[in-house]
Order: sequence, then C-alpha cells, then structure tokens
Amino acid sequence: MRRRFSAAVILACIAMTVGQADSALAQEQQDTCLTCHRALPAGRLADPATLYAEDVHAAEGFRCIACHGGDATVVGPAAMDPDKGYIGTPERQQIPALCGRCHSNAEFMKRFNPALRVDQVAEYETSAHGQALRENDDPNVATCTDCHQSHSIKAASDPRSTVHPLNVAEMCGDCHADSTRMEPYRLPTNQLDDYQTSVHWQMITDGGDLSAPTCNDCHGNHGAAPPGVSWVGNVCGQCHAMMADLFNESRHSRVFALLGSPGCATCHNNHDVHPANDDMLGLGEGSVCARCHTDEDPGGQTAVAFRSAIDSLRMTTEEAHALLLRAENAGMEVSQALFELNGAEDALIKVRATVHSFDVDAVTTETEAGLEIAVEAQSRGREALADLRFRRLGLVASVVIIVALIIGLVMKIREIEHGA
Ligand code: HEC
Ligand code: HEC
Ligand code: HEC
Ligand code: HEC
Ligand code: HEC
Ligand code: HEC
Ligand code: HEC
Ligand code: HEC
Ligand code: HEC
Repeated sequence: MRRRFSAAVILACIAMTVGQADSALAQEQQDTCLTCHRALPAGRLADPATLYAEDVHAAEGFRCIACHGGDATVVGPAAMDPDKGYIGTPERQQIPALCGRCHSNAEFMKRFNPALRVDQVAEYETSAHGQALRENDDPNVATCTDCHQSHSIKAASDPRSTVHPLNVAEMCGDCHADSTRMEPYRLPTNQLDDYQTSVHWQMITDGGDLSAPTCNDCHGNHGAAPPGVSWVGNVCGQCHAMMADLFNESRHSRVFALLGSPGCATCHNNHDVHPANDDMLGLGEGSVCARCHTDEDPGGQTAVAFRSAIDSLRMTTEEAHALLLRAENAGMEVSQALFELNGAEDALIKVRATVHSFDVDAVTTETEAGLEIAVEAQSRGREALADLRFRRLGLVASVVIIVALIIGLVMKIREIEHGA
C-alpha cells in the first residue's frame, strides 16, 4: 500500500487534511460518523467512537475522516463513500503510511507542536517490526496502533498512555512475554520478567525516577532493531558515560568485540541489571571475573588486586567512621574530621567506576588518594578517644582529691567540735 500511494496522492491527502484541520479548529461541524457510530450497539463499531473522545487527535480537532476518509456531512451510510476517500478499516500494512501522512510532514506538524519529532515512520521502517510487516505482512509484529492503540492515543507524557515510561514494559511484554506469539521467531520471552527485577525498573517504580531506562530507552522508540554488539556499550553509555569511556579505552573492549561478548551486558546483563557490589570483583563467590580468569593469568591476578584495594579502602573508611562516631557520641568535637572523611567515601565511589579501565595503575592511584584521607581520619578518631580517656582519668583523679579534701575537712570540723 505504501508504494501504491503516488507522491501526488499523498500531497493531495495532506492538503485535504490541512484544510480539514483548519476548519475543524475554526468551528464545531456536524460529524455524522461520530453521531451514527456512537449510537450503534457497543462493540467493534461503537467503541472507536466512545474511546475517541479522549484521544489526543480529538483534542486537536481531528475527526474520524482524518484517518478513515469519507464525508462527515452526509447523513446515512452514504457518508462512507469510497469516492469521498473513505478507506474503511485500514489494513495493517497501510497503517504506518496512514499515520505518516501527518507525522512525517514536518511542515504540517510544526503548526501543532514544533517540538515533536517527525521521524517515527522512517525509524519504524528500519526496525525488526517494520521490516517484517513490510516484507512478510507479518501479523505478529507491532505496528503503530499496537503500541499506541488506534482510538485512545495519548501523548507519551500522559500517565494513561500505553507508551508512558510506567506502562511501556507491560505493553512490549504483551507480545514479547507471549511464548505462543514469539515461538516462530525463536526469541526468548523472559525480557519483561527479567527487566522487572532490575535496578532500572526499581528506580522507575519505587524511586519515581523516570530517567532510568525502560524498553524503549535502550531499544529506541521506533527503531527497535536487533542490537549489535558494539551498540550495547553505546546504549548503556548514554547514561553511564564515565564507565563507558573507561571501558571503551580498555583492553576488554577490544577482546570482547572479538569474542562476540556483549560489552557491559557481559558482566551486568541486559534486562536483569542488578545493583553492583564488591563481590563481583576478585575470584571468589559472586565474582564476574572468575567466569573467564583464574589466579594463573594476569587478568585474574589483577581482579584479586582490585578486590583487596577496594576492601582495604572500604574497611579503613568504615573503621575511621566508627571511631569518629564513638568520639562524637562521647561529646568530643570531631565534626571537621567527619566532614573530611567524605573525601574517602567519594574516592571509594570513584575506584568502583575506575575498575572499568581494568588498569592497575589507575585503580591504585585512586585507592591511595582515598586511603590517605581515611588513615588520617582514623588517627584523628584514635586521638580523640585517647584524649577522652585522658580527660576521664583527670576527672577521676580530681574527684579522688576533692573527696579526700572533704573527708579531711569533715574530720577537722569534728576535731574542732570535740575540742570545743
Ligand atoms: C448512518 C450510520 C453511519 C454513518 C453516518 C457512518 N457509519 Fe461507519 N459504519 C456504520 C455501520 C452500520 C457499519 C458496519 C456495516 C458496514 O461495514 O457497512 C460501519 C462501518 C464502519 C467502519 C468499519 C468498516 C469495516 O468493514 O470494518 C468504519 C472504519 C467506519 N464505519 C467509519 C465511518 C466514517 C469515517 C464515517 C463518516 C465519514 C462513518 N463511518 C459514517 C454506520 C455508519
Ligand atoms: C488517528 C487515526 C484514526 C482516527 C482519527 C479514527 N480511527 Fe478508526 N481506525 C484507525 C485504525 C488505524 C484502525 C484499524 C484497526 C486497528 O489497528 O485498531 C481503525 C479501525 C476502526 C474501526 C474498525 C474497528 C474493528 O475492530 O474492526 C472502526 C469502526 C473505526 N475505526 C471507526 C472510527 C470512528 C467512528 C472514528 C471517529 C470517532 C475513528 N475511527 C477515528 C484509525 C483511526
Ligand atoms: C514498538 C512500539 C511502537 C511502535 C510500533 C510505534 N511507536 Fe510511537 N512511540 C513508542 C514509544 C515507546 C514512544 C514514547 C517515547 C517517549 O517516551 O518519549 C513513542 C512515541 C511516539 C510519538 C511521540 C513523539 C516521539 O517520537 O517520541 C509519536 C508521534 C509516535 N510515537 C508515532 C508513531 C507512529 C506514527 C508509528 C508508526 C509508524 C509508531 N509511533 C510506532 C512506541 C512505538
Ligand atoms: C491528520 C493528521 C494526523 C494523523 C493521520 C495522525 N496524527 Fe497523530 N498527531 C497529529 C497531531 C497534529 C498531533 C498533536 C501534536 C501535539 O499537539 O502534541 C498528534 C499527536 C499524536 C501523538 C501524541 C504525541 C505526543 O505528544 O507525545 C501520538 C502518539 C500520535 N499522534 C500517534 C499517531 C498514530 C499512531 C497515528 C496513526 C494511527 C496518527 N497519530 C495519525 C496528527 C495526526
Ligand atoms: C504486537 C506485538 C509486539 C509488540 C507490542 C512489540 N513487539 Fe517487538 N517484536 C514482535 C515480534 C513478533 C518480533 C519478531 C520479528 C521478527 O523477528 O521478524 C519482534 C521483534 C523485536 C526485536 C528484535 C529482536 C531480535 O533480536 O530479532 C526487538 C528488539 C523488539 N521486538 C523490541 C520491542 C520493544 C522494545 C517493544 C515495545 C516498545 C516491542 N518490541 C513491542 C512483536 C511485538
Ligand atoms: C538497559 C537496557 C535495556 C532495557 C531496559 C531493555 N533491553 Fe532489551 N536488550 C538490551 C540489550 C543490550 C540486548 C542485546 C543483548 C545481547 O546482545 O546479548 C537486548 C535484547 C533484547 C531482545 C532480543 C532477544 C533477547 O532477549 O536477547 C528483545 C526482544 C528485547 N531486548 C526486548 C526488550 C523488552 C520487551 C524490554 C522491556 C521489558 C527490554 N528489552 C528492555 C537492552 C535493554
Ligand atoms: C536512560 C538511562 C540509562 C540507561 C540507558 C542505562 N542505565 Fe543503568 N542506571 C540508570 C539510572 C538512573 C540508575 C540508578 C541510579 C544509579 O545508581 O546510577 C542506573 C543504575 C545502574 C546500575 C546499578 C548502579 C549501582 O549503584 O549499583 C548498573 C550496574 C547499571 N545501571 C548498568 C547499566 C547497563 C549495563 C546498561 C546497558 C545495558 C544501563 N545501565 C543502561 C540509567 C540508565
Ligand atoms: C568485565 C566486567 C565488567 C564490564 C564489562 C562492565 N562492568 Fe560495570 N562493574 C563491574 C564491577 C566488578 C563493578 C563493581 C565494582 C564494585 O562495586 O566494587 C561494576 C560497577 C558498575 C556500576 C556501579 C558503580 C558504582 O558506583 O557502584 C555501574 C553503573 C556500571 N558498572 C556500569 C557499567 C557500564 C555502563 C558498562 C559498559 C560500558 C560496564 N559497567 C561494564 C564489572 C564490569
Ligand atoms: C567474558 C570473559 C571475561 C570476563 C568476564 C573478564 N575478563 Fe578480563 N580479560 C578477558 C580476556 C579474553 C582478556 C585478554 C587476555 C589477553 O589479552 O591475553 C582479558 C584481559 C584482562 C586484563 C588484562 C590482562 C593483561 O594481560 O594485561 C585485565 C587486567 C582483566 N582482564 C581484568 C578483569 C577483571 C578485573 C574482570 C572482572 C571484573 C575481568 N577481567 C572479567 C576476558 C574476560
């Protein structure tokens, strides 16, 4: 169908649509399509008319004929006249071009919302979905209305929209977690389940942080294409730029590409990305390095060295923190030392990122900078506690002296009384 539209027909359609939009905005016109369909028994014929009241296009003044054609001023079935451009229910293969009549027309869309992109159809055509629809008329893949619905389309920012960040995963999952539908493609169906265990999903739901990724942030809104290997680093790097820069410079980046190992996802997974922890380093339980390295090779030895560097920085920092807190609780003034200890905590965060360079020197430099601060804070804590002990000793001594003086005084008084 896409190819059957000639450029002239498309232009004519656009001109028609533009004119219609103008008059629709200008005045409330008679709309026989809506009136008649709303009056039909509930079901496939009436539902579109009821649903459409809340559609973003209705809000802009577009009516049924914007997509279906026909003549909305004619009373009776003759409104659905093919000679007046009525197309009936569009076939699935026709839908991208139908939406694209407006959405791919920058000139037209600018008049409604200049910020809106106009590449949806172009991007969709490059996607696995678009290719399968175009080439095989595959009824299982997603077209515009599977992701957006057809008569209750909402802006992506609207929480009721199927493509709102909180709803996208379930929407993609309607197909991708459906093993019957996905069976012919031999695609796994665990993406939704895995994703919903991830730190990213947790940030979106519990954390209310809509900047954490859901399906379309990694796969593209409309270019959902089979991801290539080098692409994985790029996709994670959109948000984790520091890790991506270090990793891309590292030896792993090159060898993983040769091994066909998927960059970041090799160690963090793609859908079930979990919070990182120190156990991932070294060669012990929970280590990701041990999947490929042993203590016999330089990579394994480095893994162990990284782990002990991080452990020593973490433990020294924790100990310094505990000492300073004890001193503070006992009333000693250590706020400056506690403040400076933040530097060691920052260094720890930096070391955990620097790990992605897989470079011993870089990790050592960062660790030593942190250790210097932590050791200093540790000794400030010890000093404060020693000071405290000294003061307590002094207090005990003065109490003993005072008590002795009082006893002496009492005895003296008694002696004087007896004498008198
Ligand atoms: C007088 C009532 C009436 C009017 C006016 C009317 N329709 Fe219909 N429409 C129907 C009925 C009844 C059907 C189902 C029977 C059929 O397919 O002809 C239908 C079917 C449809 C279908 C589904 C076609 C299919 O076969 O799946 C579409 C789409 C549609 N109408 C759109 C429109 C549009 C757009 C307009 C206005 C230009 C319009 N209708 C005006 C009554 C009406
Ligand atoms: C933004 C474009 C658009 C607008 C506006 C629109 N439709 Fe549709 N309509 C579609 C598409 C696309 C389909 C094809 C079915 C699908 O993918 O859900 C469709 C399908 C239908 C069907 C067939 C439903 C079925 O399940 O067989 C009817 C009836 C219909 N539309 C009526 C209407 C009426 C009445 C209006 C106005 C109130 C309207 N449509 C406005 C795009 C639109
Ligand atoms: C696989 C699902 C999917 C398909 C297929 C799809 N979309 Fe989208 N679309 C999305 C998602 C997800 C967003 C939300 C992006 C966001 O959060 O900003 C979106 C956003 C949009 C927007 C808002 C502007 C933008 O680009 O972010 C428009 C307009 C749009 N889509 C039109 C279309 C059209 C037209 C088609 C058919 C050619 C289509 N979409 C096909 C999922 C899809
Ligand atoms: C007659 C022209 C026209 C047609 C046909 C059309 N749209 Fe739209 N669409 C618009 C305009 C104009 C807007 C409003 C832009 C705005 O105000 O943000 C819009 C808004 C949208 C939005 C909300 C964008 C946002 O703000 O996030 C989505 C999604 C969308 N359309 C999808 C579709 C889909 C899917 C189809 C095909 C079934 C389609 N449109 C057909 C003109 C059209
Ligand atoms: C209407 C069902 C449907 C919906 C909704 C849907 N998909 Fe798909 N998707 C498919 C089918 C079927 C395939 C397999 C196509 C093929 O291989 O030819 C596919 C293929 C893919 C692929 C390519 C997989 C590969 O490696 O070959 C990706 C990536 C993808 N979809 C992501 C998404 C995302 C992200 C969403 C939501 C924004 C989504 N899909 C929504 C049905 C759907
Ligand atoms: C944090 C980024 C990210 C998110 C979020 C994400 N994906 Fe993926 N997805 C990937 C990467 C990376 C791959 C490729 C993995 C590889 O090559 O091993 C992939 C692969 C896929 C594939 C191909 C088959 C497979 O499992 O390898 C499908 C289908 C898919 N994702 C769908 C989805 C759906 C549906 C969602 C939402 C529920 C989603 N993805 C969320 C990054 C993501
Ligand atoms: C759209 C932005 C975005 C994308 C794309 C993204 N992430 Fe995230 N990621 C976040 C946010 C936001 C958080 C939670 C805040 C934080 O800890 O940085 C997070 C958290 C994480 C964490 C846990 C960090 C911790 O503190 O333990 C890991 C690991 C992670 N992401 C890895 C990845 C991987 C691997 C990819 C690619 C497959 C990826 N991310 C893609 C935004 C993103
Ligand atoms: C060879 C394995 C490996 C690869 C590849 C890898 N990471 Fe990591 N990543 C780790 C380890 C190990 C940690 C945990 C360090 C720690 O907590 O001690 C980590 C931690 C993280 C964290 C959390 C850092 C923090 O502040 O606690 C994020 C985010 C992250 N990685 C993102 C990425 C991204 C993005 C990529 C790809 C550019 C990537 N990783 C590639 C092993 C890897
Ligand atoms: C998917 C397998 C894989 C994983 C997982 C992995 N590596 Fe590697 N690593 C390699 C390969 C392959 C090489 C290249 C060996 C060579 O060049 O001889 C390498 C090289 C290295 C090197 C450079 C060694 C040298 O010869 O100078 C270091 C350091 C290293 N890895 C550390 C780590 C650490 C630390 C982890 C865990 C966070 C890790 N690797 C996880 C496969 C892996």
